[in-house]
Amino acid sequence: MQRIVVLNPKGGSGKTTIAINLASYLASRGHTPVLMDFDPQGSSLRWVKKRQPSQPPIHVIAAFEKDTRTTRAFQLRVPDEATHVVVDTPAALPGQELPAMTRDAHKIIVPVLPSDIDIHACSRCIRDLLLIAKIHREDNRIGVVANRIRRNTLIYQALIRFLHTLGIPIVATIRDSQNYVRAAELGVGVHEMKRYLAQEDVEQWLPLIAWLNPQAAAGPSGEGPPAGGQETQQDSPSATSPPLTAVVANA
Ligand SMILES: Nc1ncnc2c1ncn2[C@@H]1O[C@H](COP(=O)(O)OP(=O)(O)OP(=O)(O)O)[C@@H](O)[C@H]1O
Ligand SMILES: [Mg+2]
Repeated sequence: MQRIVVLNPKGGSGKTTIAINLASYLASRGHTPVLMDFDPQGSSLRWVKKRQPSQPPIHVIAAFEKDTRTTRAFQLRVPDEATHVVVDTPAALPGQELPAMTRDAHKIIVPVLPSDIDIHACSRCIRDLLLIAKIHREDNRIGVVANRIRRNTLIYQALIRFLHTLGIPIVATIRDSQNYVRAAELGVGVHEMKRYLAQEDVEQWLPLIAWLNPQAAAGPSGEGPPAGGQETQQDSPSATSPPLTAVVANA
C-alpha cells in the first residue's frame, strides 16, 4: 500500500484538488484508493459523497472528526484491500504536526500557486519538511506540483527558478482549468471526464503518476485505458462550456 500525503499549509494552493483527482485517477485505473480527509472543511469527504454508484468506488475516512466513541487508531484504520491512501491535509497545519502527518508517507506532494506570496509559503513548507519532519531531500519523497499555471508568465519562470534552487523536483505542471472546478462539483476527476474536454488536463498528470510509482501508472490490468473517458475520444470537440451532466464520461 502506498501512502501519498498532499500538503501545503498555505490555503487554497490546490491540496484538495490534487488529492481528489489522484484518488479518481487511481480508482478509474482499477486500484482501491482510500481518501483520508484531515481538513475540518471536509471538502474531500463532500466530493466522495457526490460520486454516483456507477463510478469506481473511493473509500473515504473523515479523519478531521474527533469520534469519542472509538479509539483514534480505529477511526483511522485503512481497509485491508486498500492499494493507496491519499491524505488531504488542512490549511495552516502547524509545523510541529508535520512529523506525524508525514511519518509513513511514501510521497509528499506540495502544490504551489504561481504568486509571490505562495512561493514564499512554499519555501517555508519545504524548509519545515526538511528540518522539522526530517525528510531527506535525496529520498525523492517530496515533489512540487506547480498548480494553476499560465505558462510564459514572469511569475511562472520565477517559480521554476525558485524550485530549482531548493533542489526539489517539479513533478507536474497543472494548468488553470475550469475542468477542475466542474469535476469537484460533480464528484469526479479529470480522468473521468469526457476525453475531448479534459485531454490536456489528463496529459499533465502523466509525470506526476510516473513519479509516484511507475507500476501504478500501468494499473493492475496493464496499460489499458482508464474506466472512464476513452469511448468519447471520437466525439467532436466543443469550444463552449457544456452543461454539468454532460462532462462526465459515463453519465
Ligand atoms: N488547476 C486549477 N484550475 C482551476 N481551479 C483550480 C485549480 N486548482 C484549484 N482550483 C480551485 O481553487 C480553489 C482552491 O483549491 P483547493 O480547494 O484544491 O485548495 P486547498 O489547498 O485544498 O485549499 P484549503 O487550504 O482551503 O484546503 C478551488 O475552488 C479549486 O476548484
Ligand atoms: Mg482543501
